[in-house]
Parts: sequence; C-alpha cells; structure tokens
Amino acid sequence: MALVCVSDYEKKASEILPKTPWDYYRSGAGAELTLKLNESAYKRIRIRPRVLIDVSKRNTKCNLLGIDLNAPILIAPTAMQKMAHFDGEMATAKAAGNFNTIYTMSTLSTCSIEEVENAAPGTNKFYQLYIYKDRELTKNLICRAEKAGFKALVLTVDAPIFGQRRSDVRNKFELPSHLRLANFTDEKLFVQSAGGSGISEYVSAQFDATLNWNDVQWLVNFSKLPVILKGIMTYEDASLALKTGCKGIIVSNHGARQLDTVPATIEVLPEIVKAVGSQIPVMVDGGIRNGTDVFKALALGAKAIFVGRPILYGLAVNGEKGVESILNILRDELDSAMALAGITNISEINKSFIVHESNFCVSKL
Ligand code: FNR
Repeated sequence: MALVCVSDYEKKASEILPKTPWDYYRSGAGAELTLKLNESAYKRIRIRPRVLIDVSKRNTKCNLLGIDLNAPILIAPTAMQKMAHFDGEMATAKAAGNFNTIYTMSTLSTCSIEEVENAAPGTNKFYQLYIYKDRELTKNLICRAEKAGFKALVLTVDAPIFGQRRSDVRNKFELPSHLRLANFTDEKLFVQSAGGSGISEYVSAQFDATLNWNDVQWLVNFSKLPVILKGIMTYEDASLALKTGCKGIIVSNHGARQLDTVPATIEVLPEIVKAVGSQIPVMVDGGIRNGTDVFKALALGAKAIFVGRPILYGLAVNGEKGVESILNILRDELDSAMALAGITNISEINKSFIVHESNFCVSKL
C-alpha cells in the first residue's frame, strides 16, 4: 500500500523496528499526557479559509537566519539514528539537502560530525549541543562543528537530567553493541545500561545539570556560530533569552520526553511570540504531523517548524528517500492548505486564518 501521510510512515515504522528502538523513538515522559497533547492541541485549532482569490501561483519558500529554504519545515535533532537505518544521520542530512532545508544534528549521534559533513557537504546544517560536565570536551564539539561548516548551534536547555521515560527503563535501553555515539572515543561515553535506562544514566553522569543563563552567555561569547535556544516554554524565559544575544528560540518540550504534563508547544507559542516580537525568529516543534499543523504554527507566529519523530519514521521505512518523502508530504500538504485557504505566499499566513474551537462553545454562539 502506498504511504501517503506521516501516520502511514509511523504505522509502517512500528511494524519494522524492533521493540526497544521503536519504544525509544515513539515514547514520551511519564504517563505521556503531554505526548498526546502535543498532537491533539493542533486538532482544536480550525483554519478559516478565504475564497475567490487567485491561488494559481504559490510559493512555500522562506528565509531563516539568512538561509533560503524550500519550506519552513526543518529537521529537529534526534539521537541515535543508526537504530532506524544503517546510514543513520548521513542519510537524514542528505535528504535535507535534496529537499533544501536545514538538518539539525544531535550531540548523541551515531555518525560523527565529520562523517555527516563528508556525506552531505552541500546541506545546511545546525549542530545541537548538550553541555557536558567536561567543558573541554564540549568546546571540542563546538570547534568541530564550526570547522565542518555547520551554520548554527542549537543549545538544548530543557535537559539538565533526562525525563522519566518508562519504556526505556522497562527495556533497560542501551545502544545495540555494534553502534556507538560516534563523536566520542572514551568508553565511558558509550550508552550502556547499568540496570535502568542506559541513556538516562548516561545523561546524569555526563551532562552539566548546573547549566544556567551564565553558561548561555559563555556559549554565545565562545562560539563563532549563532546560538539558538531550544526548549523555551514560557514568556519569562523567552525574555531572559533575548538578553543573552542568542539568535533564535525554539519553543519545544523535547517532544514531550522531559517533564510530563507541561502544555503542548502550540499552546504556549503565542505568549512567547508576544514576548519576543520581531527581535529574533521564534520556531516551534512537537506534535507536527500534517501540513495543516505547519500552517497553524505559522499562523500563530512561528517563523519555521521542526519535525522529530516523523523523520525517524521516514528513515526507518526507506532511509534517505523515506526522509525526503516525509519532507515532501508535509510541504505538499502545506501548499494545499495555503491554496485552499486563499494564500499564495508563506508570509501571508497570519492569525486571521485560524480560530480555536473554544470560540464555538454553545454559550458563545
Ligand atoms: C529527540 N529530541 C532531541 N532533542 C535534542 O535537543 N537532542 C536530542 O538528542 C534529541 N533526541 C531525540 C530523540 C528522539 C527519539 C526524539 C523523539 C526526540 C527532541 C526533538 O529534537 C524534538 O524536540 C521533538 O522530537 C519534536 O517533537 P516531535 O516532532 O517528535 O513530535
């Protein structure tokens, strides 16, 4: 059967991946309330279509931080992609280049920075950074990303420790023995279970849980690359972020993998857009599975969106081509939503094109 939408790829990936990696990719933290909310919150927003507008020529192209893109649909950093496909991060980066979007590489990758750069030299790439207790090791990662031509650092700020991911604990998650976190050679930097979730144990041992706003300042000053903060969920933190000199914000709850019961990202996007105004781009990720979801996020002020799990599903099903298919599906669905809402250009999408379902309560009619 032809796979025509993201959920088709999700279903197929669930059939072909072994249980432990599937659980690792799919799951969220705690009772997975926020995991469900990230997707369902989009369903509560309706599109208000305008008609009798010439939509024969349309364009999903946009520019982000000086980079021209095919569509405002970017690839979020997700760890350990060789569990999905033997080409792992190299395949994902190549697909991003073919589609002309940005690939964000996770610190916890199973291909090295240099392997990805060699495999996809023409692709625009961001490097997602976790700050390790070992600052020299952290600096080494930053310098390698700069040398390899990455265009920005995406500092993940919502992971002083990892969230309670129950299925990873049940599965005693660890990387299959033939795979490694490829940017590291030291054996203590491999992901092995000591009885619980190996990845959670790794993070507690290695990541710097003292991380605070002074460290963001340190990174902005140290790195030659623009710094984007990923994991902002309140207007208070968005206002603090502006003072650091960072060049962008990603509204993210880490795909609902950190603190369960936080809001869906689309629910908090408006307060953050309001706090930031037009000073730096605000982006969003979490629960985006349809082109209409992309449309709604842009209508609420996001300059671009990132997708996490759908990319892993595409990768698992058909490697580089599968990732490209996911990007094309979301772009085509966005293009269709634009045409049918009476829009020809990304920049025309605004709040007047959406309405929240609460406006249709009987008491308000
Ligand atoms: C992630 N995410 C993530 N984020 C990050 O900053 N560094 C990382 O290494 C990872 N790894 C990771 C692995 C897996 C399996 C998932 C599902 C997610 C979070 C990711 O960047 C993004 O915020 C979410 O995936 C977005 O939500 P959706 O699109 O998956 O719903």
